[in-house]
Amino acid sequence: ELENATASSQDDVELLRIKYISKKGSINQLFSDFKNVPGDQKKEVGKAINDLKNFALEKINSLRDSFESKTAETSGADLTRPGEPLRLGTRHPLSLVKNKIIRIFGRLGFTVAEGPEIEDDWHVFSALNFPPEHPARDMQDTFFIEKDPDILLRTHTSSVQIRVMENQQPPIRAIFPGRVFRNEAISARSHCIFHQVEGLYVDENVSFADLKQTLLYFAKELFGEDTQIRLRPSYFPFTEPSAEMDVSCSICGGEGCNVCKYTGWLEILGCGMVDPNVLESCRIDSQKYSGFAFGMGIERITMLLYGIKDIRHFFENDVHFLKQFGPAV
Ligand code: PHE
Repeated sequence: ELENATASSQDDVELLRIKYISKKGSINQLFSDFKNVPGDQKKEVGKAINDLKNFALEKINSLRDSFESKTAETSGADLTRPGEPLRLGTRHPLSLVKNKIIRIFGRLGFTVAEGPEIEDDWHVFSALNFPPEHPARDMQDTFFIEKDPDILLRTHTSSVQIRVMENQQPPIRAIFPGRVFRNEAISARSHCIFHQVEGLYVDENVSFADLKQTLLYFAKELFGEDTQIRLRPSYFPFTEPSAEMDVSCSICGGEGCNVCKYTGWLEILGCGMVDPNVLESCRIDSQKYSGFAFGMGIERITMLLYGIKDIRHFFENDVHFLKQFGPAV
């Protein structure tokens, strides 16, 4: 019966499939009856059923194939037309720069770690040596999810320093990229959501010179071989001493331009030696170990590298903006 079966449509093929080879089809029925076959005939009968099943599969597949090529031929479609090119996507500029930063520090032996965006007071403030009345804890700057106990959106990636040091004894050499949140008015220069890359290096005998050399290497790799850096004294509760780092303005080469406000320098990150109180908060022996940390905003660096004038572009996801950045890794 099957040998001479024909089909005039896909639906006919499907009916044949159901009749013969579906779960409830007649061939499967033969398989279920197989247990009643006397033992000395099992081999012969089994082979016959298997042959039948393979025959049915082939027959139905070939009917289906002939039918499918028929539709293509008769549909009037021009099969010689070239296909629509698949447009490759482009990577978001923030991802491009983040990956660049990860690769540069990777060459210095820094690994990558991440922490949660929803944090508690301990990891964002207390363990980082913020005094109880510090203004950064204020509702003005921080988005709170819950009060008492405080649950909040992290305002910086320094919280990941604590998470890592709580879980690992030195040597520690890692960077932490991630999204941070601050209750700020949105403008061309600032946004309430942005991204940072934090760095942390803790070991025996880590010095300020190690910090400076690491940052100089980083600046030259990211902004170009001729880049110079300068460290200005600053203050952060979790580093002592603290500094802010400027790079020489790559746009005017130090001649003075709009971007560097005619100073020849651009501020790109905060840094310093990890405060012993922070090490002790994480049960790391501050007599034995020292370390440095730094943190930078990815948006700001990306704006400098690509000449982007408005931070809001990063979050609007306008394809005209996004497709300007290569598909690179
Ligand atoms: N967390 C600081 C900020 O958000 C940056 C920083 C990180 C400074 C590490 C020193 C050390 O501004």
